[in-house]
Amino acid sequence: MKAALLKAFGSDLSVETLPDPVPGTGETVVDVVATGVLPYSNEVFSGERQYLLDLPAVPGTGAVGQVHAVGPDATRLAVGDWVYCDPTLRSRDGAPTPDIALHGLIARGDGGLRLQRHYRQGGFAERMLIPTENAVPLGPLDPADAGRWCALGVLLVPYGGLLAAELRAGETLLVSGATGHFGSAAVAVALAMGAGCVVAPGRNERVLADLVRRFGPRVRTVRITGDEDTDRALMRRAAPGPIDCVIDLLPPAAGAAPVRTAAMTVREFGRVVLMGGVGMAGDDDLRLPYPWLMRNSITVRGQWMYPPSAGARLVGLVRSGLLDLTEFDVTEFDLDDVNDAVAHAATAGGPFEQTVVRP
Ligand SMILES: NC(=O)c1ccc[n+]([C@@H]2O[C@H](COP(=O)([O-])OP(=O)(O)OC[C@H]3O[C@@H](n4cnc5c(N)ncnc54)[C@H](OP(=O)(O)O)[C@@H]3O)[C@@H](O)[C@H]2O)c1
Repeated sequence: MKAALLKAFGSDLSVETLPDPVPGTGETVVDVVATGVLPYSNEVFSGERQYLLDLPAVPGTGAVGQVHAVGPDATRLAVGDWVYCDPTLRSRDGAPTPDIALHGLIARGDGGLRLQRHYRQGGFAERMLIPTENAVPLGPLDPADAGRWCALGVLLVPYGGLLAAELRAGETLLVSGATGHFGSAAVAVALAMGAGCVVAPGRNERVLADLVRRFGPRVRTVRITGDEDTDRALMRRAAPGPIDCVIDLLPPAAGAAPVRTAAMTVREFGRVVLMGGVGMAGDDDLRLPYPWLMRNSITVRGQWMYPPSAGARLVGLVRSGLLDLTEFDVTEFDLDDVNDAVAHAATAGGPFEQTVVRP
């Protein structure tokens, strides 16, 4: 099969012929039709992000394709089924704290590295080997739409945070980073889950206006100033009542101050979920006042990715019409042009923009 290989950080991907994967017990091989390209892939492949990725490897995170072959213990998947290849690889011998690697992207710790070395080939390939439980059935679909279904990879991240926050229908959510790649997806998913109102702060008026154009009056935008007290007051004023939940999806470059501003808008007994990258570049960490947390009985939790059941549940939101994948503008590249795809993704990683490689 043809696959794009990263041999060293800082080098281009090279498209080569590799042996076809063969499924063992508990494994499935998928014919890849489309794979999403993360906007910051270039920073991972250059080594700038210092992600734990054992090379050489075939990158590519979150593919859509058709089942090519299943291991002997698969009881439901059939050859030809359309599936989303959930990139969150979890060890099976580590419950309740499995080791985790994100397929073709990053490992967490030594255990994650062991997983990554076995599942060394991500979605920039004609075929990929995945754990059978990571094959999320999509139902029948038009192959022309496979690239659009890769948006599940963007939507699943905030879905994980909103499940962790136990967001309930009718509640008010504030999305910190609502104008970003993952933050805008959080707005869409929260509304699909029945949020009564989503407060969307940001500095870019054009992107804020676009969120309202897409989703209507349940989105309340706030043009932030950079001053913590002023912005917190503006955010609270934009909400129709107390803010029940806050989800943060800001990148490292934003720094801790806007995260704190957003987090501290939450009501007494409110929930704050942290999913962004603040502090990961070694900059200032988030400091939340102990008395504020204690007196207001605030819950703060971090969330990496999402639970194993999230993929099927998110597909349900799409299939029911609650979540509309046609919001996404998809730009597609052949596998031979994978380096162009990575460069394009870096410049087109805004809200509802999706770059895809089609092997
Ligand atoms: N936890 C997980 O499972 C998980 C999974 C995937 C990704 N992530 C993380 O998610 C984070 C966000 O990724 P992304 O690709 O969505 O980032 P992104 O698109 O680059 O984020 C842009 C957002 O950050 C805001 N921003 C940037 N600098 C700011 C500042 N100084 N003050 C206030 N707002 C600022 C932008 O607001 P303006 O519109 O005002 O510029 C915009 O809303 C990353 O750190 C990534 O590592 C986490």
